[in-house]
Amino acid sequence: MSIQLAPSILSADFARLGEAVAAVERGGADLIHVDVMDGHFVPNITIGPPVVKSLKRVATVPLDVHLMITDADKYIGPFAEAGASMISVHVEVLPHLHRTIHAIKALGVKAGVVMNPSTPVASIGEIAAEVDFALVMSVNPGFGGQSFIPRSESKVAEVRALLDKAGNAAASIEIDGGIDLTTVGRVVRAGARMLVAGNAIFGAPDPERAARDLKAAAIAALA
Ligand code: DX5
Ligand code: ZN
Repeated sequence: MSIQLAPSILSADFARLGEAVAAVERGGADLIHVDVMDGHFVPNITIGPPVVKSLKRVATVPLDVHLMITDADKYIGPFAEAGASMISVHVEVLPHLHRTIHAIKALGVKAGVVMNPSTPVASIGEIAAEVDFALVMSVNPGFGGQSFIPRSESKVAEVRALLDKAGNAAASIEIDGGIDLTTVGRVVRAGARMLVAGNAIFGAPDPERAARDLKAAAIAALA
């Protein structure tokens, strides 16, 4: 499974999103990670389907929509219609996760399950065979620019083992939070292949170059 870099626009200038997307695409972005927050599940509010629809017009790579919202079931349809190619939902808020994952897939969208740092790996055991990807949060969701939680490294390896045991070797592991040049190698070696990075890319003076450097470091860690 190859590396996919997913710059998170959460740390970009929201008045210039088109330019931000173009810059990281030039730098080798494989996905654009879109953080959706509702002020309930996480203590911050960001964007909704209209912004995804606008991003879809300018992005040439798939949009990876991370729903940090309490009522994900209600918004899967609108985000799919707006142009999401991937939608991930949190295990902590969905009592009928099996139904939700299949509802995402039925819309022709790749379905991912997300775990917060305090959520045990075993919580995704019953859904591991069904998902297209699993997202390990390596910070508590809500804000960009937080520090990587070291335990996430071994957690990635545990999730990889769980997916494999469930017969889902095709499912990829995404990691989100505090990924930069100092942490990327460790998480890649643990098994992460989709790498979200916000501050390390859009907080840098040259996001195109930061994306290129981060992806190169990730690929180097694979060897
Ligand atoms: C955190 C979001 C992340 C965030 C990552 O709630 O889910 O996608 O943008 O930002 P960095 O890379 O700055 O930790
Ligand atoms: Zn995210």
